[in-house]
Amino acid sequence: MTPSKRRFLPLLLLFSLSALFILSYHSSFNLFFASHNDTQLPNFNIPQNPRNTSLSNFTLTIKVLAFDRLHSLTRCLRSLANADYGNDRVNLHVYIDHFKEIDLGNGSLILDQKLEESRRILDFVDGVLWKFGDKFVHYRTGNVGLQAQWLEAWWPSSDDEFAFVVEDDLEVSPLFYKFLRTLIVHYYYNSSNFNPSIYGASLQRPRFVPGKHGNKLQLDSETRLFLYQLVGTWGQLLFPRPWKEFRLWYNTHKAKGIKPILHGMVTTGWYKRMGERIWTPWFIKFIHSHGYFNIYTNFQKERALSVSNRDAGVNYGKTAGPDSQLLDERSLDFNLYDMQPLSNLKWYDFCFREVLPGRLVKSFDELAHVLHSVQKSKTIILVNLFGVSQPITMNMLCHFERLDIQNFIFMGPEMDFLRDLARRGHPVIDSKKMLKSITDSKLKGLQRSQAELIQEILVQAYAIKTCLDSGYDSWMIDGNMLPLSSNVFSDMNDFSFDISAMENSKILFVRSSSTTAKIWGDKFIYEIAATAASLLGSYNSLSRDQRQFKYLMVKTLEEKGVRIQKVDDLSFGLKIGADHANQTFVGVEKKLIFWSSEMNLDLTQSSLGKLGMWVVDGNNSCTSVVCHQS
Ligand SMILES: *[C@@H]1O[C@H](CO)[C@@H](O)[C@H](O)[C@H]1NC(C)=O
Ligand SMILES: *[C@@H]1O[C@H](CO)[C@@H](O)[C@H](O)[C@H]1NC(C)=O
Ligand SMILES: *[C@@H]1O[C@H](CO)[C@@H](O)[C@H](O)[C@H]1NC(C)=O
Ligand SMILES: *[C@@H]1O[C@H](CO)[C@@H](O)[C@H](O)[C@H]1NC(C)=O
Ligand SMILES: *[C@@H]1O[C@H](CO)[C@@H](O)[C@H](O)[C@H]1NC(C)=O
Ligand SMILES: *[C@@H]1O[C@H](CO)[C@@H](O)[C@H](O)[C@H]1NC(C)=O
Ligand SMILES: *[C@@H]1O[C@H](CO)[C@@H](O)[C@H](O)[C@H]1NC(C)=O
Repeated sequence: MTPSKRRFLPLLLLFSLSALFILSYHSSFNLFFASHNDTQLPNFNIPQNPRNTSLSNFTLTIKVLAFDRLHSLTRCLRSLANADYGNDRVNLHVYIDHFKEIDLGNGSLILDQKLEESRRILDFVDGVLWKFGDKFVHYRTGNVGLQAQWLEAWWPSSDDEFAFVVEDDLEVSPLFYKFLRTLIVHYYYNSSNFNPSIYGASLQRPRFVPGKHGNKLQLDSETRLFLYQLVGTWGQLLFPRPWKEFRLWYNTHKAKGIKPILHGMVTTGWYKRMGERIWTPWFIKFIHSHGYFNIYTNFQKERALSVSNRDAGVNYGKTAGPDSQLLDERSLDFNLYDMQPLSNLKWYDFCFREVLPGRLVKSFDELAHVLHSVQKSKTIILVNLFGVSQPITMNMLCHFERLDIQNFIFMGPEMDFLRDLARRGHPVIDSKKMLKSITDSKLKGLQRSQAELIQEILVQAYAIKTCLDSGYDSWMIDGNMLPLSSNVFSDMNDFSFDISAMENSKILFVRSSSTTAKIWGDKFIYEIAATAASLLGSYNSLSRDQRQFKYLMVKTLEEKGVRIQKVDDLSFGLKIGADHANQTFVGVEKKLIFWSSEMNLDLTQSSLGKLGMWVVDGNNSCTSVVCHQS
């Protein structure tokens, strides 16, 4: 250890200790620090992407991936040289793959041809005059294939460095650079339009939907720019950070022998056929697990700023011809450089279903608005994630996606995770921020105790109230359950009472009616919270059952003489756990499965795995993409 490092050790130690304190203080210890007020709480708002970028350091490098197609490469470089680069300095890097090893037993004729072909390609590239910046040529000694050509083409050295990758059978419009530059200035350097989920922009015409067997993509004529998860390999602009992140992710997965399998995607079929000859299945799997998006253009009339001539090669057995029309100055009948604010653009997933990122509810008004947008047949599923681990939450989300359940909203304490879910397009309540807007002084007093339990109770009570105010029925569930079919909730709501509580799971149903509307006022909410607060002193002696909303609400309602329907959920639900290890679905008509919140993650995961209900890959992504009719 160097002397200077040693000197810093005590400081480091101090820092990590205080970090530890802040962390533990913030979780369950909250309960015992009841006098601390809001302003003293550590700020969880960790800056997501501390960047210090400046247009003055902006550089873009064109990366051309070539092999043995001299004719294609000539056409490609000619189009690049004909583009308008303004006064910018733009470098050109050409990567030339080597031919594959040739069996000498086959005679040296082919070998001589190949050697001659390489020489001609190198001579041609050497002769290219690139007056816009540096020209750099990388000629390989062996055949590496398209995957390594892409992956090794770039390692960004700063947040201001961009790469535009073109394969040799592409042709670009003379306008392509001015367009890309405008796009970067607008969606990268303008902080009001920057979004860390965006990994770049594709200049090819958007064509297919990978989650729907590669079906043709349908877009309205109003949309000029939009966001779509799929990478476009015919003229792809890459942003530095996500690319670096991808390269590291690829490293890890490749080294551990994890394959980029994503069920339901046509690209996974390509991977099974072509294996490591292509790179897109890896990138697609990465983008899916990170919830990232690409900017695309929609110029109508099959026009694009980059077209592929689809020459015979790795991707095409025989030449297929241009996929689109090049958009140039003559055919330009709109303002190419007019870019909408990011908030006006639409986002689409691998099913080409619209995604709504950023629904992080911070006030009651916003809640009413979001509930209105997600409700289905005036029903909302409120999902409580207090005490639920992230993998379990992800697994639930994957099941919701499979079953096409969209009328839900999440609430929980772990805001970094929940913010990320909101970024990926799932509706989320920021409990702490929302509860801040409560004006009732008695409730404010209770809240000031800052106990997580109080927060959990209040956010659930208010979520139900907001549903009732809008005339919606609500299902309050927690993350420790899974529905087994898409109509589980609608099937179950034929209860004869307005309020029904499951006996074993934490599921609760509140129907919108004049009775429930009357009950569910601020006074009632205060009573539930007060009951919770009165139990706080003996928190450790409380059973898990008593520390939950359903219990407190039922207790409070029964004290008021309100009748509640108790539902035997074991008659239609399956409870999994240690003593039910051998349960299967065979011969049983079950609507849902649930488990105790005390069951640990490993056991839950293995029990669900045995039932084929664990559908999460690497904790943060679903194993499949499941598209539905839209
Ligand atoms: C909260 O703590 C801050 C800093 O200690 C103090 O200035 C403020 O008066 C406190 N507010 C309440 C409502 O207790
Ligand atoms: C970013 O860089 C500029 C110029 O170097 C500097 O003036 C500014 O303080 C930096 N901002 C941050 C947040 O580091
Ligand atoms: C531009 O890059 C140089 C060299 O890396 C750096 O010193 C400078 O701070 C950067 N300027 C801005 C405004 O980011
Ligand atoms: C040449 O190589 C091909 C493919 O490797 C093989 O099918 C063919 O039999 C070889 N021909 C001779 C004359 O060795
Ligand atoms: C940044 O983007 C916003 C929204 O599109 C726009 O109103 C603003 O003029 C842009 N700022 C600059 C410096 O271009
Ligand atoms: C569960 O199944 C395993 C293997 O199928 C069996 O060995 C074991 O005895 C069963 N346990 C119970 C409690 O039925
Ligand atoms: C999944 O999460 C668990 C606990 O949250 C962690 O121990 C494990 O390393 C994670 N696995 C991956 C592949 O990230």
